[in-house]
Amino acid sequence: MKTLFTSSLGAHVTTVYTVETIPLIFDHVNKSKSKVLYVCDAHTAAILPDNLLRVELLNGEDAKNWDSVEHIIRVAQSHGFGRDDRFVAFGGGVVCDICAFAASIYMRGCALTLVPTTLLAMVDAALGGKTAIDLGNTKNLVGTFYPAEAVILCPQTLETLSGHEYHNGLGEVLKHALLAQDDDLMGFLETNHELILARDSTVLATLLEASLHVKKYYIEQDALEQKGVRDALNLGHTFGHALESVGNLTLYAHGEAVAWGMRKALEVGLLLEITDPSFAKRALALLEQYGFNQEITVTNTQQFIAALQSDKKRRSAMLRFVIMEQQGHYRLMALDEEIILRVIS
Ligand SMILES: NC(=O)c1ccc[n+]([C@@H]2O[C@H](COP(=O)([O-])OP(=O)(O)OC[C@H]3O[C@@H](n4cnc5c(N)ncnc54)[C@H](O)[C@@H]3O)[C@@H](O)[C@H]2O)c1
Repeated sequence: MKTLFTSSLGAHVTTVYTVETIPLIFDHVNKSKSKVLYVCDAHTAAILPDNLLRVELLNGEDAKNWDSVEHIIRVAQSHGFGRDDRFVAFGGGVVCDICAFAASIYMRGCALTLVPTTLLAMVDAALGGKTAIDLGNTKNLVGTFYPAEAVILCPQTLETLSGHEYHNGLGEVLKHALLAQDDDLMGFLETNHELILARDSTVLATLLEASLHVKKYYIEQDALEQKGVRDALNLGHTFGHALESVGNLTLYAHGEAVAWGMRKALEVGLLLEITDPSFAKRALALLEQYGFNQEITVTNTQQFIAALQSDKKRRSAMLRFVIMEQQGHYRLMALDEEIILRVIS
């Protein structure tokens, strides 16, 4: 077990650990004297040892609802869990979001460890304290800020992850490379393409650490997302969410939509002469190198604009796009409809 770093979010401190093999995760969790409830889904249940107390949720976004939260809380209650006892999420971003939300409200907050098992959850969902469930068709409408005490990364869990889900996570890693304050992650992605796609464990360990350091940089300056700094992490997401909406959330994978959104943000930046052309060229080449389908043309542009408007209404704020100036430097900007239409069609 190696401690990678600690991250301070307001009064909370999250320690991020890495372990080489799956059994070491449970060795670490079992060190605490408290009771432990694991939360998993059907896919990750297969990796979890049989003898551990667990709640098994449905796979995927369908589980992000009140029923799952109540289920977790009732099992904890029936086993006499107190505030010092621990919920451990063992799964992707969905399991982490639900388990963390349940932990944040069980007895006004019990101990929480996250063990992310998708690339997306490792580099994004597990760090930063956001918990959530969906309500009706609205994603992440209900939630709290509740950073985990511990995040345990075990690249070995990624061995069973589908290529599709792995690629999804790479979209977020590429986003972090563009937002990084230094060139390390971008250079690493460019030179280690083959090994990253092969999920080489040594290369993965470096990739996870470098990617998480970028997230740490932004969240620590804006723990509760009130200062606009965390908004940088929405790079590609405003365009991407609208694309997912016009595709009924099924046509485009999230990572693919975000990667396309980053491309659109770069194109806007070039048109407005905000983005450094040599940075844009390098960033676009990186997206292509990692095989993101960049040939998507939006045919129903009115539906796309309507999706952007509903995003804006939901946030009851001005819809701001993250437009890069150069690596690690960005502006948050409202965009005219005319320029949006120019880049999407
Ligand atoms: N809290 C945050 O800051 C934050 C940030 C980004 C995303 N999210 C949330 O994360 C969710 C998306 O996360 P995701 O992409 O990990 O999706 P997910 O949790 O649905 O996992 C994707 C699929 O992979 C399966 N899976 C997970 N680990 C596996 C493994 N090791 N082997 C085989 N299969 C495995 C899951 O069962 C699921 O079918 C969304 O709900 C999103 O809102 C939260």
